[in-house]
Amino acid sequence: MSGPNRHSRGARPPAGGSDPMSASLVPIPATLVRILPEDPENRLFELQTTTPFHVGPGQFVELTVPGSGEFPVSTAGETATGFATCIRQSGRVTAAMFQLDEGMIVGLRGPFGNGFDLTRFAGRDVLLIAGGLGIAPLRGLLHALLEERERYGRIVLLYGARQPENILFREEFEELAANGTVELRFSVDFAPQLGEGDGYICSVGLVTELLQGLQLAPDATTAAVCGPPSLYGCVLEQLASTGIDPDRIFATLERRMKCGTGQCCHCVCAGVTICRDGPVFCLTELRSMPGAI
Ligand SMILES: Cc1cc2nc3c(=O)[nH]c(=O)nc-3n(C[C@H](O)[C@H](O)[C@H](O)COP(=O)(O)OP(=O)(O)OC[C@H]3O[C@@H](n4cnc5c(N)ncnc54)[C@H](O)[C@@H]3O)c2cc1C
Ligand code: FES
Repeated sequence: MSGPNRHSRGARPPAGGSDPMSASLVPIPATLVRILPEDPENRLFELQTTTPFHVGPGQFVELTVPGSGEFPVSTAGETATGFATCIRQSGRVTAAMFQLDEGMIVGLRGPFGNGFDLTRFAGRDVLLIAGGLGIAPLRGLLHALLEERERYGRIVLLYGARQPENILFREEFEELAANGTVELRFSVDFAPQLGEGDGYICSVGLVTELLQGLQLAPDATTAAVCGPPSLYGCVLEQLASTGIDPDRIFATLERRMKCGTGQCCHCVCAGVTICRDGPVFCLTELRSMPGAI
């Protein structure tokens, strides 16, 4: 491991302008080309810009809702004409975002952060573990892996949600499981009745319980985890205890962010500037950042 800035391959420079720092503080216009409800609380917003704008998996952007404010959001994958974000209505600005219609314009800054370094996954089995909305950045990573599927071994996706109707991108993942592209296991906290799956398992319980019986090859596996803090508390060290190298167990952190460029210190944790040096960290780094997880 060579320090928090090692994920150079995933990082992309901020869009537009000759001075990257000032350009990254000025939003550019982006059109909401498609808005898809995923469940009652979450919507997928597909964005398109007039100038090229690429966000790597694990990176994030700042979206401005005109007249309301700005908030950080991860990429949930690239689309034919831009990229998508999956947004939960959780407060004032995200509520304003949910009032917008297709064709309307938002402000866009970024891309920010290091993102996932795909070279750390190449030639290895990949284990993705998501809880709740944590599936959004991992979907972005999954899409990037599938662009060159032959570079990776097994791809296993373990995804926990509250109830079956809260499983985001369910059809998409089930299709990937049915054609053997990924191994898929869902868990839900509660379900009156569970449907049968073609090529996947859905069980009631914690997402960590899905690890049982996976028969991983720890020395050939790279893991990426994203979800609420309670998930990190139990799963990261559990993965390490199976023998996966802590340098190959990655988690993406959420902190309250403002500038996104390492200038305002809003996101600093244990002396590390999360927006610039993260939000993706390996377990070895997280162990040296008290209070990070
Ligand atoms: C790097 C990064 C990636 C993110 N990716 C996504 C994503 O893909 N989809 C998505 O829906 N949201 C994502 N978020 C969280 C999103 O930024 C917040 O939900 C949003 O800022 C809330 O703004 P608001 O004005 O609607 O809510 P507010 O009225 O400001 O707050 C509503 C509630 O959300 C909490 N909150 C606000 N900001 C954060 C934060 N950064 N982290 C944790 N809790 C917060 C507040 O404490 C409060 O309880 C991400 C945050 C970061 C830092
Ligand atoms: S959000 Fe300003 S320094 Fe990270």
